[in-house]
Amino acid sequence: MSQVVIVTGGAGGIGSPICRGLAQDGLKVVVADFADQAGKSLAEEIGKQDGEAIFQKVDVGNKASVGQMVERTLKRYSQIDFLINGAGVMSRAPVQEMAEEEWDRVLRINLKGTFLCSQAVSRHMMQRKAGRIICVASGRGVAGQPRAAHYAASKAGVIAFVKSLAVELAPHNVLVNAIAPGATDTPMSRAGSTEEEWKKREAVPPLMGGLTKKEEIIGLIRYLLSEPAKYITGQTFLLRTPR
Ligand SMILES: NC(=O)c1ccc[n+]([C@@H]2O[C@H](COP(=O)([O-])OP(=O)(O)OC[C@H]3O[C@@H](n4cnc5c(N)ncnc54)[C@H](O)[C@@H]3O)[C@@H](O)[C@H]2O)c1
Repeated sequence: MSQVVIVTGGAGGIGSPICRGLAQDGLKVVVADFADQAGKSLAEEIGKQDGEAIFQKVDVGNKASVGQMVERTLKRYSQIDFLINGAGVMSRAPVQEMAEEEWDRVLRINLKGTFLCSQAVSRHMMQRKAGRIICVASGRGVAGQPRAAHYAASKAGVIAFVKSLAVELAPHNVLVNAIAPGATDTPMSRAGSTEEEWKKREAVPPLMGGLTKKEEIIGLIRYLLSEPAKYITGQTFLLRTPR
C-alpha cells in the first residue's frame, strides 16, 4: 500500500507544488483546501499525470469540517501516513488599525487550524504507532513582521505548538516538525506587497535573504518524510535567515 498524505492548503501557491511533487513520488495525495475549484482541478491534473489524488474541501479552523476530512480520507485509503499543515492566510495592517475580527480570522486559520488538523490526524497516527506531521510556519514567526503582527504571532504559535506536540508524540513514533520559508512567490505574498516592493525582493540573491524557491520547500519536505529523518522531531527549519 503506498503512503497517504493530507496537504491542507493543498491548492495554494506553496501547497500545490508539494501535492504535485509527492504524487510524483507515488504517494496518494489528499488535496485539502477551502478553495473548491483550484483543489478539484489540481486533483484532476495529478490524476491525468498518472498520480493518485482526491480533493477534500475543508475549513481547517472548523472542528467538524476537519473531522470529516479525516473520516473521508480513512474511508477511502484506510490510513494516513503524513499530514502537511499548509493552509494559511495573512493580511496587512498596523496593530492600531487592526480589526479584532481580522486578528481572530488569522489566528483561527493559521494556529487553531494547525491544532485541529494535528489533533484529529495524530489520534489515528498514535494508534498506528507511525506518522509524520509537518507544519508550514514562517520566518516571520521568528523575526516578527511589522504590519502583520497577527500573522507573525500565529506562526510563532505554530513553532511552539510543534515543539510541544513533538514531545507528546515521540513515545508513539510520530514526528512533528515545522518548516519556515522566507518570502515565496505565491498569491499570498504578492498580495501583501506593492509591485515596487516585490521587484526589490526578486532582485535580492537567495543567500542574501532573497525569495525562497518552491523546489527548496518540496526538497526539505521530501527529506523530512524520508527514512534518514526518522529521529528528527520538534525542529523548525528556516529556509532563509529572517531579516
Ligand atoms: N508565500 C510566502 O511568502 C510564505 C512564506 C512563509 C510561509 N508561508 C506559509 O505557507 C502556507 C501557504 O501559503 P501560500 O503562500 O501558498 O498562500 P496561498 O494563499 O497561495 O495558499 C493558501 C491556501 O490555503 C487555503 N486556505 C485558506 N484558508 C483556509 C481554510 N480555512 N481551510 C482550508 N484551506 C484554507 C487557501 O484556499 C489557499 O489554497 C501558509 O501557511 C503561509 O503562511 C508562506
